[in-house]
Amino acid sequence: MSASLFDFLSGLSGALDLMSSEVVGHHKRVAYLASRLGQALGLSREERTSLFMAAILHDVGGFTRQSRLAALSFEADGTLHAELGYRLLSANPLLDEASVIVRHHHTPRSRFSSLDEPERKLFLSAVLNLADRVDVLCLRRPRPEAKKIMGQLSPRAGQQFDPLALDALDSLVADPEFLAPLDSADPTQALDHKLFESRGVSHAELLQASTAFSQIIDFRSRFTATHSRGVAETAVCLAEKAGMDQGDLASMRLAGNLHDLGKLAVPSEVIDKPGPLTPEERAIMNRHPELGGGILSSVAGFEQVTSWASQHHEKLDGQGYPNGLKSGELSLGSRIMSLADVFTALREDRPYRTGLANEETLGILDEMTQSGALDAELLALAYANLDELDIRRRSAQAQAAAEFRRFYSDLPPQ
Ligand SMILES: [Fe+2]
Ligand SMILES: [Fe+2]
Ligand SMILES: [Fe+2]
Repeated sequence: MSASLFDFLSGLSGALDLMSSEVVGHHKRVAYLASRLGQALGLSREERTSLFMAAILHDVGGFTRQSRLAALSFEADGTLHAELGYRLLSANPLLDEASVIVRHHHTPRSRFSSLDEPERKLFLSAVLNLADRVDVLCLRRPRPEAKKIMGQLSPRAGQQFDPLALDALDSLVADPEFLAPLDSADPTQALDHKLFESRGVSHAELLQASTAFSQIIDFRSRFTATHSRGVAETAVCLAEKAGMDQGDLASMRLAGNLHDLGKLAVPSEVIDKPGPLTPEERAIMNRHPELGGGILSSVAGFEQVTSWASQHHEKLDGQGYPNGLKSGELSLGSRIMSLADVFTALREDRPYRTGLANEETLGILDEMTQSGALDAELLALAYANLDELDIRRRSAQAQAAAEFRRFYSDLPPQ
């Protein structure tokens, strides 16, 4: 299994759109603007690729709705979401080349000389910073004319923005067609795709990137901080015992890491709520498998991952969601994902209860199997390998917990 870098990044940026309806499309529009600026500035192919990656994920550190909206306001200093974005991306070999660019996408140009970062990366940050602000200005209705846009930005040349990047923007906006793609659903389609033709994403890189994305999904709340990694490890362990081959095991880990991708659309207040959800909140929560599936299915090569991930709340008796599928319609992979999700969730702390002990967990799993919700053969397989299953799950979650603590330590003062 492999995918194109372009497809994969577009999919991830679509997932970021879920975090707030106010900023839908922001990442793709900024990727378009930054790429056009990069081209006008004569950047090398490598630099343009790094800049595109950074631009299409740049607000990835804006975990909460509030911080994402603040990031769009013209005067927001944005230190925190830029730093968190850097931490997420730098932990990942595939995405690392974009990390420093993201870290400084709100840093004023005048501060660059005091930073210990590669000069060219900082220049790319400056290009991204300008592209970001152009999109924010263009959100105003009616959209300001080119002269007005330059009038807002030019006085801050040298201070906030890079003069060379501003010059490039000045010549681009003179073309009335330059801003037109911002009105389309995906402005990156207007770019020259040849830039990415040579860049595929290998199996190993996909796995690493899915781990980074599991952190974006999970780190929004301490209660879910290690959930996806626990589900992935449990699912892979069960799949091994069920005799799946190496390729399927890799797909299972991807599906486990990304199964709750659609939860990015659920407000943090609902995820952290210390009590039962209202029917409205429940409805929002229950859309997550479908939303996540929609995004995963946009990546060519992800067909199996999509079905396993998006069916993790289906139940064999047809009482699950979103589609109420029945046993004949649920593959072994989907059944494994569903059991792994319940098993991991029961063992974890929740806002309204602490994690359950082993006996209690098994009692509930037994009940769910007798009522026809879970697969009896798979549960028997889990019982036969219970010690290994629990040791592996626990160690995967302990590692994710350590990463969670490191992630939020020593943050810059706000
Ligand atoms: Fe930002
Ligand atoms: Fe932004
Ligand atoms: Fe879920």
